Amino acid sequence: MKVTVVGAGAVGASCAEYIAIKNFASEVVLLDIKEGYAEGKAMDLMQCASLNGFDTKITGVTNDYSKTAGSDICVITSGIPRKPGMTREELIGINAGIVKAVSSSLLEHSPNMVLIVVSNPMDTMTYLAHKTLDMPKHKIIGMGGALDSARFKYRLAEAMEAPISDIDGMVVGGHSDTGMVPLISHATRNSIKVSEFLTKDRLEQVAADTKVGGATLTKLLGTSAWYAPGAAVSGLVQAIACDQKKMFPCSTFLEGEYGLNDICIGVPVILGKNGIEKIVDIPLSDAEKAHMQASAEGVKKTNGLLDV
Ligand code: LAC
Repeated sequence: MKVTVVGAGAVGASCAEYIAIKNFASEVVLLDIKEGYAEGKAMDLMQCASLNGFDTKITGVTNDYSKTAGSDICVITSGIPRKPGMTREELIGINAGIVKAVSSSLLEHSPNMVLIVVSNPMDTMTYLAHKTLDMPKHKIIGMGGALDSARFKYRLAEAMEAPISDIDGMVVGGHSDTGMVPLISHATRNSIKVSEFLTKDRLEQVAADTKVGGATLTKLLGTSAWYAPGAAVSGLVQAIACDQKKMFPCSTFLEGEYGLNDICIGVPVILGKNGIEKIVDIPLSDAEKAHMQASAEGVKKTNGLLDV
């Protein structure tokens, strides 16, 4: 199993690190445009191998796509990250050009790849990949919901003073401060609805904190987060590499599901060796349906800025 991660910045390197630590891939290629940078990160990570007990071989390359040839899964993290006060949507101008160039170079060398898009604004970058690459739709996946759901569970556990392993919950919709739809009606603590433990006001606060999860960290760190984004990507990569048939909310191209068309947005999917094996259409409450529609309108507005 060969995995390529483009972008050796904080998200890309964390992603490579978590993939290696989980020890399911034979090879990870880390590629960056900055001379020597991916090589340095790869060497540093490889020097963790004996300490952390993994056998995955991590190689760093400077912009040499021939070294990514034959990858089963490719991840794009490249592009500029958010600065404090910026929305993900404001990154579109620069990142669209990068994602377009990177994704076509990847496809040229790995025609059978499953592609995971992480660059922001993620739903629009996933849509761009759909529109510009000659690839089946189930092989193009946007990573946002897995991360947003992890942040939702963190906030629920905090509010309930419960261990995170007790909590289950999912965030669908667009990966943006206003677009995320935390599915409170479906969230549970050991199968008991969270509304049994928390007041409506407290749950609304949990949802609000979840939605600005990325912005909160950008303000604290001066740039966007990387540990949880890297861990979330590694979870998707593992589900595909190990054909786990696990369910994650991912951005995928919709053709009528959830009443939406011609858009990539976060919905629950089953991930296995073919990428998205199934889109899971779950019932939403009326409020969640309305929220999902509004979220889709926001994503479509950003998509309208693309030159496709
Ligand atoms: C975040 C970025 C990765 O939410 O979009 O932290």
